[in-house]
Amino acid sequence: MTDQWWKTAVVYQIYPRSFADSDGDGIGDLGGITARLDHLRELGVDVIWLSPIYRSPQVDNGYDISDYREVDPMFGTLAQFDDLLAEVHRLGMKLIMDLVVNHTSDEHPWFVESRSSRESATRDWYFWRDARDGAEPNNWASLFSGSAWAWDEATGQYYLHLFDPKQPDLNWENPEVREAVHDMMSWWLGRGVDGFRMDVVNFISKRDGLPDTTPVPGKRFVGALDQFADGPHVHEYLAEMTATVFGGRDGEYVTVGEMPGVTTDQARLYTDPARAELNMVFQFEHMSVDQDPADKYVDAGLNLVVLKRSLHRWQAALADVGWNSLYWNNHDQPRVVSRFGDDDPEYWAASAKALGTVLHGMRGTPFVYQGEELGMTNYPFASDRDFVDLEARNYYRTVTDDGGDGAAALTGLARFGRDNARTPMQWDAGPNAGFTAGTPWLPVNPNHDWLNAAAQVGSPDSVFAHYRSLIALRHELPALVDGDFTPMLEDDPHVWAYVRATADDALLVIANCGREPRTVDVGAEWVGARLVLGNGAGATDALESATLELGAWDALMFLRAT
Ligand code: GLC
Repeated sequence: MTDQWWKTAVVYQIYPRSFADSDGDGIGDLGGITARLDHLRELGVDVIWLSPIYRSPQVDNGYDISDYREVDPMFGTLAQFDDLLAEVHRLGMKLIMDLVVNHTSDEHPWFVESRSSRESATRDWYFWRDARDGAEPNNWASLFSGSAWAWDEATGQYYLHLFDPKQPDLNWENPEVREAVHDMMSWWLGRGVDGFRMDVVNFISKRDGLPDTTPVPGKRFVGALDQFADGPHVHEYLAEMTATVFGGRDGEYVTVGEMPGVTTDQARLYTDPARAELNMVFQFEHMSVDQDPADKYVDAGLNLVVLKRSLHRWQAALADVGWNSLYWNNHDQPRVVSRFGDDDPEYWAASAKALGTVLHGMRGTPFVYQGEELGMTNYPFASDRDFVDLEARNYYRTVTDDGGDGAAALTGLARFGRDNARTPMQWDAGPNAGFTAGTPWLPVNPNHDWLNAAAQVGSPDSVFAHYRSLIALRHELPALVDGDFTPMLEDDPHVWAYVRATADDALLVIANCGREPRTVDVGAEWVGARLVLGNGAGATDALESATLELGAWDALMFLRAT
């Protein structure tokens, strides 16, 4: 991997269903995206990652694919896809596809054939097992609640589904499966796409024999990441994929693997250029710091020191080998300004900018999720009926079926539920936030009357303008791309600070992550450093003193020669 163009890039994730609707059916579509590309040009991003647009029964909003080579009619046609891609390229951007190949939909012809009989040609493309003592073959829990196994009456066996029963896991041990996936990827490269974001791709190699995970008293099914994350053949499969699909031209493309539970040691292997597996991974450690380890819908509160240390650990671990992705948000996470920031209208903008600053200041490739550049917030969910996401619905049902606390489950879902990320993009203050002329598939956040793109684009103090500056700085400042990373004030529970330095320049990134003003000493060497970005009212052009007064959620970047 010689040409690492993606190291200076910023990626923007589009969740097509919720981005822009061009035909009034209440669901976003390809025509809507094409019509809104000017927004992304204005923001200055380099790459667009499209969440799945393939043909799908949509039980998991497209992460259940029934035809990898067709666009779901809800989103448009292949011709519209080609138009979108051409327009993206004409505007100087790139586009990567979501590759969901740990599993297919149960309506994919491969699975339809597989389940048709024990002798079918694709039986071994999935995991079929006999019952064990009249019950499930092992104790693995699905990530979407309940057992990871579903019974097939017709052929008298269970099949494995780490997610929904309508998302059966593909058996990557079978070389025919790998070949079929490679062919499909090559087909998309032939259409001109610039790479892939690979869904839960560290789950594709399960432990031999699919053994039980350590039982937990009182639980029939247990989360079993230890049995299927970073399994015995995953590195081999990814290296094979890269060699086969990109065939020496891998430098032209970008790949990022979504990897729940991945460790820093594993991430170094996945992203070591010499191993030619992936360019970067999405790790999850910082996405769980405020969640109860036994139940991600239980709020454990945020300790800023823990959050900082987690991200700093990843900075250090991938400093000499590999590369980090940087993200706060995606379609599976609540909105960061409501989570680690402060969505009270008085602090909302400053906290959104501060969080953007500390993330974009780090070493790695930043990802912006649609609406994050506006500081979009969580939705005010009030009832279990407000949730559409199957993960949320399954969770609520499981808790209440087991006689658990429904009100607490609702509180947890409102805080962490995925639908928070999926409410429609807030384009303007008009009906349905300008997202659709019809009835949106998920309600629009009522705060769109003041929080929307029209109010922000072109306004110099907006969250949008701040993100635009952060993205421009990534393109301009070598220290942001290549600079090493040194934490500062690491045990400070309120202030987030670090230095990025090359042989020529040093960049200080500092933010007050709270409402109370703070005074910090940054060291005499910073006196005279030039302010390159700030959201603080008191920001001056050059740092006059080593003692910095930070107002509520102030965030600043200073540059000096080294
Ligand atoms: C990934 C996706 C998520 C999906 C799951 C199953 O985590 O990001 O949205 O539900 O995989 O495909």
